[in-house]
Amino acid sequence: MKERLLTLKEEALRELAQVENQQQLADLRIKYLGKKGPLTEILRGMGALSAEERPVIGQVANEVRGAIEEVIEAKQAAYNEAETNARLAAERIDVTLPGRPAARGAVHPISKVIEEIEDIFIGMGYTVAEGPEVEQDYYNFEALNLPKNHPARDMQDSFYITDEILMRTQTSPVQVRTMEKMKGHAPVKIICPGKVYRRDDDDATHSHMFTQIEGLVIDRNIRMSDLKGTLLQFVRELFGSNTQIRLRPSFFPFTEPSVEVDVTCAMCGGSGCRVCKQTGWLEILGAGMVHPRVLEMGGYDPEEYSGFAFGLGVERVAMLKYDIEDIRHFYTNDLRFLKQFVHL
Ligand code: FA5
Repeated sequence: MKERLLTLKEEALRELAQVENQQQLADLRIKYLGKKGPLTEILRGMGALSAEERPVIGQVANEVRGAIEEVIEAKQAAYNEAETNARLAAERIDVTLPGRPAARGAVHPISKVIEEIEDIFIGMGYTVAEGPEVEQDYYNFEALNLPKNHPARDMQDSFYITDEILMRTQTSPVQVRTMEKMKGHAPVKIICPGKVYRRDDDDATHSHMFTQIEGLVIDRNIRMSDLKGTLLQFVRELFGSNTQIRLRPSFFPFTEPSVEVDVTCAMCGGSGCRVCKQTGWLEILGAGMVHPRVLEMGGYDPEEYSGFAFGLGVERVAMLKYDIEDIRHFYTNDLRFLKQFVHL
């Protein structure tokens, strides 16, 4: 029996040495170590052996099994390793290859200018307020000293939704909403950026929807010189320290006196060019001292308090700042236009 076992071992090792692939290896494993294999058969027949022979043969059988298993495991491990190496080679990634760049979005130039203006005013102690774009006639006109049928309502042709509700034509209603919220307390020092809507015909400098930034300051002893100083400081931070402003008398029903404010043209520095139509000046905002009636309607005693307000056209400022000749560029979403602002 011992002879048979040793012959079996030799035979198995010879055959294993010639194995060429995993399938052959698997077949040999079944052939020699399987339940129906010769080794199992020999072990099964051990019952017939004498008590002295049994442990000797048992030991030899175990050694034979161990030797065959060892060769099979070693070969299997070699196949596994070769397989892993082949897969790693096939899946190899060249991490040094340049990536495919994803198209990057950018902050819209109008949002950028709003943020910049907000930062300047926040630096001067203002807080940012908000108000609804769909507004009541009361806030957009009446509480701003523009009763129904007031001729100045024609200055801003409106989109009405009902008789009492419209798309706000200006950010000035936020003045009234802020005064209501503050309940007569001072100081009030806010700016409010937002979209406004007018039935204007679109052209190079007019849009039916555009952006304003409202400013409102109320306290004791607020004077016209405070308005002028604030605006001068503001334009110098925005356009550069040599910028000048010019106040022209104007009319708004909610301010008295009222002014329109021009800045020296950033393109030519004031000497006259195409952008400023050779005047050297560009209008960017309307402003004035808050009308006593508006203070009163907002809950402030005009004998005790005074204030100034202004309303700035953001698109006009952005056009000046970036030398853009047509306001419609901001809203037609031409990527060639918008991409120019990615790195600004
Ligand atoms: C007003 O809207 C006033 N509410 C401003 C104001 C506020 C005055 C507080 C006094 C106190 P006006 O209609 O002039 O004023 O508009 C203000 C600015 O918005 C203008 O100077 C201009 O820069 C801009 N603007 C006006 N109409 C248009 C338009 N159709 N498209 C683009 N910008 C415009």
